[in-house]
Amino acid sequence: MQLSCTGHLRTAALILLLALGLSRCQGDGTVAFTNEEDAWSSYTVPATADMVSMAEPQQQVPKANQQQQQQQQQQQQNATVAADIAAHRTAEFTVLLPPGATELRMQLQRPAFIFGTAYQPETAPDPQWYEDTTAAMFWGMTPENAFKWFNYEPQPGNTSEARALLESRYIGFAQQQRMPVVRGHTLEWLKDEEGDNFWPRHLNCSEYVAALKERITRDVGAFRGKFTTYDVFNEVIKFPGMLDQCDLWDTAFPDAFKWAHEADPDAKLCINDFSLIEADAGPKMIKLINEHLLPHGAPIHCIGIQAHLTIDGINMTHMKQNLDLLAETGLALYITEFSLFSTWEGPNGRPISYLDEDTQADTTVALFRLWYSHPAVRGIFMWGWWDANMWVQDAGIYRADKTPKKAAAAIQALWESEWSSQVYVPQPSDGFATFRGFFGSYDWSYVDADGATQRGVVHFGKGRRRRAAVLLGSRERSLAGEASAAVQREAGAWPK
Ligand SMILES: *[C@@H]1O[C@H](CO)[C@@H](O)[C@H](O)[C@H]1NC(C)=O
Ligand SMILES: *[C@@H]1O[C@H](CO)[C@@H](O)[C@H](O)[C@H]1NC(C)=O
Ligand SMILES: *[C@@H]1O[C@H](CO)[C@@H](O)[C@H](O)[C@H]1NC(C)=O
Ligand SMILES: *[C@@H]1O[C@H](CO)[C@@H](O)[C@H](O)[C@H]1NC(C)=O
Repeated sequence: MQLSCTGHLRTAALILLLALGLSRCQGDGTVAFTNEEDAWSSYTVPATADMVSMAEPQQQVPKANQQQQQQQQQQQQNATVAADIAAHRTAEFTVLLPPGATELRMQLQRPAFIFGTAYQPETAPDPQWYEDTTAAMFWGMTPENAFKWFNYEPQPGNTSEARALLESRYIGFAQQQRMPVVRGHTLEWLKDEEGDNFWPRHLNCSEYVAALKERITRDVGAFRGKFTTYDVFNEVIKFPGMLDQCDLWDTAFPDAFKWAHEADPDAKLCINDFSLIEADAGPKMIKLINEHLLPHGAPIHCIGIQAHLTIDGINMTHMKQNLDLLAETGLALYITEFSLFSTWEGPNGRPISYLDEDTQADTTVALFRLWYSHPAVRGIFMWGWWDANMWVQDAGIYRADKTPKKAAAAIQALWESEWSSQVYVPQPSDGFATFRGFFGSYDWSYVDADGATQRGVVHFGKGRRRRAAVLLGSRERSLAGEASAAVQREAGAWPK
């Protein structure tokens, strides 16, 4: 049964559709699905360090009032975060139903926002449990180490083993789970764990540029359509290495993005770094982008924000200001490597967490809320989640014995309850139902006029009009098909 523009739709519904900007009727008389994606504003908006002053005016506040004032401030911040989440992550959706349809049910099954993790099955004590639990918790993935250049090509030209490992244990897993974002980390990281032993570090400048070009062209080409997103460079602010030594800031640095783009024009290209929101590297990042990448036409789409955070270093106000600052570039932001711990210098030479479970859970939730509330942030990736397979000691949300800590339940409650949407309309009036929900893919079902249950999946992307409508019926089987295909790659429009 199809709805036609002139036939079954009542005048009231048509007026509503016109108001929603969905009046386009196709030749076959069906209402078109015009859920437009957000067009991101141009990223040439100049944003410089000078535009932002981190210092707030100092005021003398009597001590007795300070605590009260702090609490009021926190209340205000919490209210702002909640309002921003509603404004940027939800919209009013309208679904149209064939005449006589009843018992409409819709359930958000995957948010448009990405929640992912660093992944490394070959070091997990119980790989099957690790894989299954990762699949149950996350819908985005970053190979933790396997794609880093020194692991991927330990001797010049020797990439076959690493490529086979990535294909079999990582890409296959991500595809099976239909993960919309799989991050290639990282094409070049000049602070190599291998240090001086890594062969490109012994090349002269022209040889190095040739090797870098080969690395990017070959490997982005090899994973074309498999990695959706790349960290082209990692940590260049603190570890510029050859970029500085050979003065490549206006040549190979922007060219690397062009090489990657040529090898996979659909891939989203990020620059990834630390201290961007918890410390003061934000303005430096913007300077690099504005002075060395954009003027040379480097195709950059996103800034990767590492977010390895010590509990004492967290200042939500500072973080929010820096997210705003980075967002002024117009680029998408990703939290790429979240971990929360106590100190960088644990007894084993590794960072370590001594946090009690309540503190870990509460702080994680507060951070997620802030990041989710920011319209430029597209996703949050944890840098591991299990104490038995994580670089930071005891910072996982699962203990080594596979039991969840409080933070795991708190995160689950965010996605499955606080940020989830469910709709039940027993008797949709006039053939449509309108509801406010979170962006993402929904399972839907209704009982048609013949008493048969119809089911499908529909994706509500971030609409420019903050509204979207979709026809559920015979035609949307194809719409649902398109929608599920769309969530396989990243949702949303990107800066060109
Ligand atoms: C290639 O690298 C792998 C490690 O990824 C190593 O095991 C193997 O021996 C190397 N092969 C050669 C020919 O060097
Ligand atoms: C870099 O090394 C190559 C090959 O060894 C050599 O041909 C070239 O002259 C060297 N370039 C410089 C600037 O030293
Ligand atoms: C938190 O950051 C804000 C903005 O940068 C700053 O004004 C404030 O002093 C910081 N608070 C603390 C406790 O450091
Ligand atoms: C603000 O939210 C945090 C958690 O996100 C909570 O711990 C805190 O108590 C809230 N503060 C106020 C004043 O509501």
